[in-house]
Amino acid sequence: MSIAENRIVPEHVAIIMDGNGRWANARGLPRTLGHRSGVETVRETVKAAGEAGVQYLTLFAFSSENWRRPPDEINELFGLLKAFIRRDLAELHKANVKVRIIGERENLRVDILTLLLEAEETTRENTGLTLVIAFNYGSRDEIARAAARLATEVAAGRLKPSEINADLMNQYLDTAGIPDPDLIIRTSGEERLSNFLLWQAAYAELMFVPDFWPDFSPELFKELLDRFAKRDRRYGALSTKAVAVGQ
Ligand code: FPP
Repeated sequence: MSIAENRIVPEHVAIIMDGNGRWANARGLPRTLGHRSGVETVRETVKAAGEAGVQYLTLFAFSSENWRRPPDEINELFGLLKAFIRRDLAELHKANVKVRIIGERENLRVDILTLLLEAEETTRENTGLTLVIAFNYGSRDEIARAAARLATEVAAGRLKPSEINADLMNQYLDTAGIPDPDLIIRTSGEERLSNFLLWQAAYAELMFVPDFWPDFSPELFKELLDRFAKRDRRYGALSTKAVAVGQ
C-alpha cells in the first residue's frame, strides 16, 4: 500500500474482467462484441489505475480453462490481445507503463508469444505502472510449474527441501518480483476467484461488483479504491484500531 495525495492506495490491484458475454447477450449482440467493448474498458482502467497511484494492475485476460470455449471465441480473444498490443504498445510505452505477462507460455501460438515478448522487452526499463496481463493463466498450473522447478533444483542437489519456504516459493511463481495483490475485483456478480492468483491472494481484500466488465468505469474504480482505503487489514494480527484502543 502507498499513501498518494493523503489517501491509502492499494499498491497492486488485480481484476477478473467478467461478464463480456452477458453484456452482449443483454443487448442482442454477439459475444465477440462484448469482448471488443471490454478492451475499451481495459484502456480506461489502465489509465485510471495510473492516475490513482496504483503501481501494479493485473488483468485476467485468458485463463487456462478458457480453452474449453468454442474455437471462434478463442480466436477472437487472441486477436483482441494481439490488436491491443499492436495498437497500444507505443502509447503504453510513452506513458512509462511496464508490461509483464504471467501464465504458461509453453504451448502458446508463436505469433502471440512473439508479441507478448515484444511488449515485455520494449517496456522492460519503464518505471511507471506495471500492467500484468494474465494470459493462458491458471493458478494451480502456476503453482504446479513452480513446484516442478523446485523439485528439479532439489534433484540436482542445488537446493535442500528444508530450504523451501513461502519466500522461496514466491520467487518460483510467474509473479516473482511482483507484490501480492492488495485488492482483487471481480465484475459481473460472480463471487469466486476461479483459479486466479490463489497463492498471492492470501491477504487480498476481495470486492465483487454486479456490473459487467464493459460497464466497469473509472468512476466505479475510484469508488472501490475509496472503499479499500476504509478497510481494516490485519494480516492475522490485531486491528490497528483495536491496538490503539487497547493502549
Ligand atoms: C470474461 O467474460 C472475459 C474474458 C474471458 C476475457 C477478457 C478479455 C478481454 C476484456 C479482452 C482482451 C484483454 C486485454 C488485456 C486486451 P465472459 O466471456 O466470461 O462473460 P460471460 O461470463 O458473461 O459469458
